[in-house]
Amino acid sequence: MKGVILSGGHGTRLRPLTHTGPKQLIPIANKPVIDYAIEDLRDAGITEIGIILGTNMPEKIKEALGDGSRFGVKITYIMQGEPKGLAHAAKTAKDFVGDDSFVMYLGDNILKSGIEEFVSGFDESDFTSRLLLQEVEDPRQFGVAELNDEGKIIHLVEKPEHPKSNLALVGIYLFKSEIFNAIDKIKPSWRDELEITDAIQKLIDDGFDVDSFVVEGWWKDTGKPEDVLDANQLILETIKTDIKGIVEDDVKIKGRVVIGENSIIRSGSVIKGPAIIGKNCEIKGYVGPYTSIGDNTKLIESEIDSSIIIGNSLICSNRRITESLLGLNSKITSCTKSYPKGRSFVIGENSIVKL
Ligand code: G1P
Repeated sequence: MKGVILSGGHGTRLRPLTHTGPKQLIPIANKPVIDYAIEDLRDAGITEIGIILGTNMPEKIKEALGDGSRFGVKITYIMQGEPKGLAHAAKTAKDFVGDDSFVMYLGDNILKSGIEEFVSGFDESDFTSRLLLQEVEDPRQFGVAELNDEGKIIHLVEKPEHPKSNLALVGIYLFKSEIFNAIDKIKPSWRDELEITDAIQKLIDDGFDVDSFVVEGWWKDTGKPEDVLDANQLILETIKTDIKGIVEDDVKIKGRVVIGENSIIRSGSVIKGPAIIGKNCEIKGYVGPYTSIGDNTKLIESEIDSSIIIGNSLICSNRRITESLLGLNSKITSCTKSYPKGRSFVIGENSIVKL
């Protein structure tokens, strides 16, 4: 069995962060979201992985992941070019997949349970596809599955207005190579994309059996800033204390906290976990629960919680920063004693500033 990770898309809902890199490299607990997909595949015994690259700075993904050896896998890069839908992306992996079965994993999805159980027994089964599902409150923003009593999928609709169930398609699919014929038979949807959901429905219409697997534990599609922060919180719930940096006297550390090499926590600070602080950081102030601070960041006389600082940043703020997502090389400086009359900004396209 092979793995195919989709890492294209424009990431419009994550602008301006995606103006400078693909969304799959946004860190969750200081690790790019795509790393979790690679680790899930590897932990399920899948070491031949094809990564489908889009047009939004694909070289950054290659640079970050290399040949995969650091994960213990072999990565092959495949260019999708312009994104024309998930089924189009899947089709670009046809030569890489050959006659094998494969897991298709959307590179911005993150799952608590891993995929070992999901993958188990599929090759030996008579099913042509198996879909990972989860019950959601509002299925209208997902692909939605209707099952029969045996858990076989009888009908699928992409983002239905009137969903027949609350079972959403998690962006992780198992296929045998028959899926490529089905993709050839479908037409672009209302959003002008070749939908993988339509291709799977085609398999069902052509008489192939499609299995389902309802996943327990959380799942997040990290398409929007609030989802990225939620995923960060969920992953931080799982960390264990690991302090490599220097903690000066008179620092309070509560809960599970990771502090990277060459970082220094200055006297008087409070770090309340779960929180992670990367390498070469200097922290003086308060770091609250569910915060991830990337490498080379200085937090001076400031308070932060429930946030992600990607890295190389300087924060000196006289008000607590909360539920924020700060891109690489960000600066927030508002801790001067005398206030300027106005506020001064250098802000990229589609930025959001909540004062
Ligand atoms: C895609 C799929 C949808 C699935 C979702 C999971 O949606 O088309 O069926 O439920 O991923 O994240 P998109 O992110 O393209 O809107």
